[in-house]
Amino acid sequence: EDPALLEAFEARVAADEFIEPKDWMPEAYRRTLVRQISQHAHSEIVGMLPEGNWLTRAPSLRRKAVLLAKVQDEGGHGLYLYCAAETLGTSREQMIEALHSGKAKYSTIFNYPTLTWADIGAIGWLVDGAAIMNQVPLQRTSYGPYARAMVRVCKEESFHQRQGYEIMIAMANGTPEQKAMAQDALNRWWWPSLMMFGPSDENSPNTAQSMRWRIKRDTNDELRQKFVDITVPQAEFLGLTVPDPDLVWNEAKGGYDFGEVDWEEFYAVVRGEGPAAKERMEARRKAWDDGAWVREAALAHEAKRAARAAA
Ligand code: 3HC
Repeated sequence: EDPALLEAFEARVAADEFIEPKDWMPEAYRRTLVRQISQHAHSEIVGMLPEGNWLTRAPSLRRKAVLLAKVQDEGGHGLYLYCAAETLGTSREQMIEALHSGKAKYSTIFNYPTLTWADIGAIGWLVDGAAIMNQVPLQRTSYGPYARAMVRVCKEESFHQRQGYEIMIAMANGTPEQKAMAQDALNRWWWPSLMMFGPSDENSPNTAQSMRWRIKRDTNDELRQKFVDITVPQAEFLGLTVPDPDLVWNEAKGGYDFGEVDWEEFYAVVRGEGPAAKERMEARRKAWDDGAWVREAALAHEAKRAARAAA
């Protein structure tokens, strides 16, 4: 690439300017953004499945309506992000093919099963809580369309987190069985939620370049630490115990010290060996095939409209 163009690009990014679709950008910048934004979109769409499992089992009409609104929001976030990725020259079909062929990833967190209603509370509280930690800084990511998509997503994410925490408050203050269910959900969702922030910084191949090009504003470990520091007091308020015997407040650093993530499990789930990975991919392929007629109808309608306009 032309060194002068690269220098001008790096100066724009360093000056905190937004890079827009028609601006010159290094191919590596384009490539890593298509990678991250499309995988972010896949995560939103696949993320509808674990919660969708409880739409027909919600304990009240209110809980069902709130969960329905959240699942619909996630679908919207996915479509928003696919559109942001398309401004970089990729197509919906290419991104969907990459997901279905296993070439593209989605967040490991969505490969865990939702076994009880308390899981829906833990997902809103912890998974959307972690997503907020990661997505708030992305509102200032250097690529304009991605940053603007995040502004809308973050507003809805806050509602997702609050409704989940409200479920956990209700259960933690309910019967002993309900409190036990809430603790069981925390036990099963705590460590997979920490894995959402990615590998530790020294094992993260993309972080250095993403920080330099201000795609990321914080590193994986920085965001993970912030998430732990904010979430542990929330668990204490619930009267629940975080499943980490090494968790301890470190006054000197003004944050918690905590145990090591099980990176064996992390990389196994990234490789597609997660408990519900097979079902998730089957469900996505089926949804895509079942929806073919809608895509064909929309294309036929568009062709007729274009023919009429041309006549
Ligand atoms: N699950 C699956 N893959 C993961 C992962 C996870 N939890 N964490 C990291 N990876 C992958 C990365 O994608 C990368 O693989 P790739 O090069 O093939 O894409 C590899 O592991 C190494 O990780 P890096 O840290 O080097 O990669 P990144 O710099 O891209 O950092 C990330 C990973 C922090 C997830 C970053 O991509 C990111 O911030 N993405 C945008 C946010 C996002 O996707 N969040 C996922 C959840 S979305 C969600 O929760 C929606 C909510 O509404 C429920």
